[in-house]
Amino acid sequence: LTIRAGSYAEELVKTAKTVASPGRGILAMDESNATCGKRLASIGLENTEANRQAYRTLLVTVPGLGQYISGAILFEETLYQSTIDGKKIVDVLIEQNIVPGIKVDKGLVPLVGSNDESWCQGLDGLASRSAAYYQQGARFAKWRTVVSIPNGPSALAVKEAAWGLARYAAISQDNGLVPIVEPEILLDGEHNIHRTFEVAQKVWAEVFFYLAENNVLFEGILLKPSMVTPGAESKEKASPQTVADYTLKLLHRRIPPAVPGIMFLSGGQSEVEATLNLNAMNQSPNPWHVSFSYARALQNTALKTWGGRPENVKASQDALLFRAKSNSLAQLGKYTG
Ligand code: 13P
Repeated sequence: LTIRAGSYAEELVKTAKTVASPGRGILAMDESNATCGKRLASIGLENTEANRQAYRTLLVTVPGLGQYISGAILFEETLYQSTIDGKKIVDVLIEQNIVPGIKVDKGLVPLVGSNDESWCQGLDGLASRSAAYYQQGARFAKWRTVVSIPNGPSALAVKEAAWGLARYAAISQDNGLVPIVEPEILLDGEHNIHRTFEVAQKVWAEVFFYLAENNVLFEGILLKPSMVTPGAESKEKASPQTVADYTLKLLHRRIPPAVPGIMFLSGGQSEVEATLNLNAMNQSPNPWHVSFSYARALQNTALKTWGGRPENVKASQDALLFRAKSNSLAQLGKYTG
C-alpha cells in the first residue's frame, strides 16, 4: 500500500479510526465568536470571553462524556483557553479520552460572478497555522463550506467549494491533522428530497475528484455531510426511513469504503430528529462508520437548561450527556427513544 501524506500517514489513519470508533461521535463546539454570541444572546447572556469560557468549560467537563464522544471541534479561542478552574481545555479533553479538533476555515464571503453564492476563505497561511494547532494538541481539523440549492448551485460555486476543500485537506494531512471535509448543503429552500439528492451527487463527485487530484490519503480523512432531506420550507416531510434510504444511496454511489468515518452535521434538525435519522442509517451494516458531528442537536437543550446560572450546570451537563448517549445508541443502530 503506497501511502502519501508524508510522515504523518500512519498517525492520520490512527487518529481517523479513533474518532470513528464504535458508539462514538463528535461534539461540534467550534462556533465562531459571532455565532457563539447568538447562542449566548438566546439565553440572555453577553458575548464576553468569560461567558464563552464558562459555557465551554461546562461542555468539556461533563463526567463520562468520552464514552460517547470521540472528538470535540474547537474554535481557535478555545484551543488556547483554560477552564474556569485554570486547566487547559485541551488537557481536559485528552483526560476524557476525547481527541481535540480545530476549525481552520476563516468563514464565508460572497463568490463574485455567481448567483449570490459564497466561498470559504482560509487557505492563506493554513500550513503554518495547522502546524501550530498540532503543537497545541489538535489532531483533526474542520473546514466548512456551503452550497445553496435555491441559489443554484452554480457550476462555479460547486467547483470552488470542492477545490477549496481538497487544498485544505492536503495541507491538513501534511501537518498531521485529519481533515474533516464538510461541504454543507444548506437545508434552506422549498425543494423536494430528489433535488437535494441530485445536488449532493454532483457536489460529492467533484469533492472526491479534487481530493484524488490533490493526492489526499482517503484513509486519513473524515467526512461531514448533510443528510439528504427535503428543503426546510418544503411541504414534503420525510420519515427517518426515507432520509436514511436517500442518504445511504448517496454515500454508496459517491464515497469510497477507504474513508473511515461519515460524521453527519445536524444542520437545524431538532435533537430527536437528528438522532432518529442517524439510527435509521445504522439499521444494517455500512462500509464506513456512520455517526454524528452535531453542534445544535447536541447542545440546544443543554444551553437552554444552563441559562448562564451556575446552579444549573449539573442539569445542563446531564442534558448533554443524555443527547450524547442517545446518539451513541443511534450510531450502533440501537436507539429506541
Ligand atoms: P450543526 O450540527 O448545528 O449543523 O453544526 C455542525 C457544524 O459544526 C456545522 O459546521
